[in-house]
Amino acid sequence: MLELQNVSFRYTPRGNNILSHFSASFGEGELVAVTGRNGSGKTTMTRILVGLEKPSEGIVSYEGNDISAEDASARSRFIGYVFQQPDRQMFMPTVREEVAFGPRMQGLTGKALDDAVENAMRAVDVAEEADRYPRSLPRGTQQRVAIASAIAMNIRYLILDEPTSGQDGNEKKRLISLMNALRKQGITVILVTHDMDIVASDCSRVIVIA
Ligand SMILES: Nc1ncnc2c1ncn2[C@@H]1O[C@H](COP(=O)(O)OP(=O)(O)OP(=O)(O)O)[C@@H](O)[C@H]1O
Ligand SMILES: [Mg+2]
Repeated sequence: MLELQNVSFRYTPRGNNILSHFSASFGEGELVAVTGRNGSGKTTMTRILVGLEKPSEGIVSYEGNDISAEDASARSRFIGYVFQQPDRQMFMPTVREEVAFGPRMQGLTGKALDDAVENAMRAVDVAEEADRYPRSLPRGTQQRVAIASAIAMNIRYLILDEPTSGQDGNEKKRLISLMNALRKQGITVILVTHDMDIVASDCSRVIVIA
């Protein structure tokens, strides 16, 4: 269980609270939608979950432990994050190296590393793009590369920030079936979205930030 407990957050010491006494929990194998108006704080909430921002008040807990002090790289052992603009999170020359980066940082080497990378690329159907430059790929493919990077690290939570906005119907369907497959493996998927069709058809719960 990953939880935000009574979290308040402001970007500057004298600024307004973006979140005020906000609590939410995310359980195993859920596909939870997070929705709300533009600027309501959806991306901010996900950045707090992954450790890119620290709560001004309240705590983030994981399996009952307070992880508020853990930074994003420490939390990457169990949370994967697909950015609203995934090209901003790709910096290696090939897809294969991009997917290998995280597990290598976790200490995986040799055949174990190669197997984790190949399996993750196959799971999201980017094996054919293994030698391509990630930043030159279409956004939908970049998102799947970002998901492969997370899968290769054996994550328990995957957060996707508006992954279907601006995508065509086929790419959307592909992404949704991938999210459902991950969920069946017990991975909790947190999906920031404005797409109410997806909320209605695929999500087990929806959190609306007002
Ligand atoms: N780095 C920052 N510094 C100061 N204010 C910020 C920063 N990032 C976001 N904000 C402000 O915080 C509020 C919440 O932003 P956030 O990006 O979390 O909203 P959102 O719900 O994800 O919006 P959208 O639907 O447009 O993606 C907005 O008012 C935004 O202007
Ligand atoms: Mg946002």
